[in-house]
Amino acid sequence: MQTIPIIDLNKQYQAIRLEVEEACQRVFANGSFILGSEVSAFEKEFAAYCDSVYAVGVASGTEALQLALMACGIGENDEVITTAHTAVATVAAIEASGAFPRLVDIDLVNYALNPTLLEAALTPRTRAIIPVHLYGCPADLNPILEFAKQHGLWVIEDCSQAHGAKYLGKKVGSFGALAAFSFYPTKNLGAFGDGGAVITQDANLAEKIGALRQYGWKEHYISSVKGMNSRLDELQAAILRVKLKYVDAWNLRRRELTNLYLGALQNTRAILPNQPAGCEHVFHQFVIRHPQRNALKAFLKSKGVQTLIHYPMPIHLQPAYADLGYRSGSLPNAERAANEVLSLPMYPELTEEQVRFVCACILEFETLQK
Ligand SMILES: Cc1ncc(COP(=O)(O)O)c(C=O)c1O
Repeated sequence: MQTIPIIDLNKQYQAIRLEVEEACQRVFANGSFILGSEVSAFEKEFAAYCDSVYAVGVASGTEALQLALMACGIGENDEVITTAHTAVATVAAIEASGAFPRLVDIDLVNYALNPTLLEAALTPRTRAIIPVHLYGCPADLNPILEFAKQHGLWVIEDCSQAHGAKYLGKKVGSFGALAAFSFYPTKNLGAFGDGGAVITQDANLAEKIGALRQYGWKEHYISSVKGMNSRLDELQAAILRVKLKYVDAWNLRRRELTNLYLGALQNTRAILPNQPAGCEHVFHQFVIRHPQRNALKAFLKSKGVQTLIHYPMPIHLQPAYADLGYRSGSLPNAERAANEVLSLPMYPELTEEQVRFVCACILEFETLQK
């Protein structure tokens, strides 16, 4: 029986192996492993790729968010608004900064923060909003930016799943005061280990992040502020420089595969992902909703098709976050998404034949249910 994995990182590695190995050799020969010329070059290249000005390489997407909050002076006694349907990392970063995560519900059209719910979430302590461009689909940024402006709030975009996505013709990450990216290996731009970046168009904020990622140093061994150790290493930066050249082509391929999925699944009971007007979705995940999600998942597994659930439990119902004080039923769309979403295999190296097979299995499942 053929198996179709949810992702195949080895296939991607084989396609760019020589370039990756050459980049690694360059770092080994250079003998500089932390914050050297590869990180500086990657920061310039990545900022330009994101239609932005400054990028600061850090150790992970979670710490990119945490450092962005710290650079805005956000901490204890402050509140930060984000959604309950996101990677737990978004909320973990808010808590790591010392602030309180105020969770709002999502819009099921784009799985992102519903801007009409911001007013009700606002308190005198609110300092920032973190919209998450989940699955690669840009959040509806304009009303969020407008609300933030009216109330003097920071907007920090969580772009961890949306490298290269565009909102109204511009790359996500170039809208908020700051934006955080993850280079976790499975991301649209993934390292061979952990990595992340904060981007901004503000020289002052970039300088702050640059200091905060290394013990608050502006000059060596002198901490001007209290910082941490969150550095992107040279090996990861060198590899990311190789992969950055391919991201647009890979995103294009993701969109081609998406079109194939959308065509083949049109007449099923699956609710298919939207591409909202004015948005260029990069399909980090291809996520459907299905009324019989668990049975469908089990059926696909029996056919050798791996799937995942992003995410099976909204943040406000997770045991660790019981102290936030939400109850079941309070964020109904996030709860519904958790019960119905299913991520199908999606990566540039997936073949059209594999996509057709996944779709045929879904059609077979539905026929069997009749
Ligand atoms: C939406 C979102 N935010 C933040 C993160 C955190 O990134 P990392 O795993 O690099 O810390 C991730 C990835 O895991 C993510 O998907």
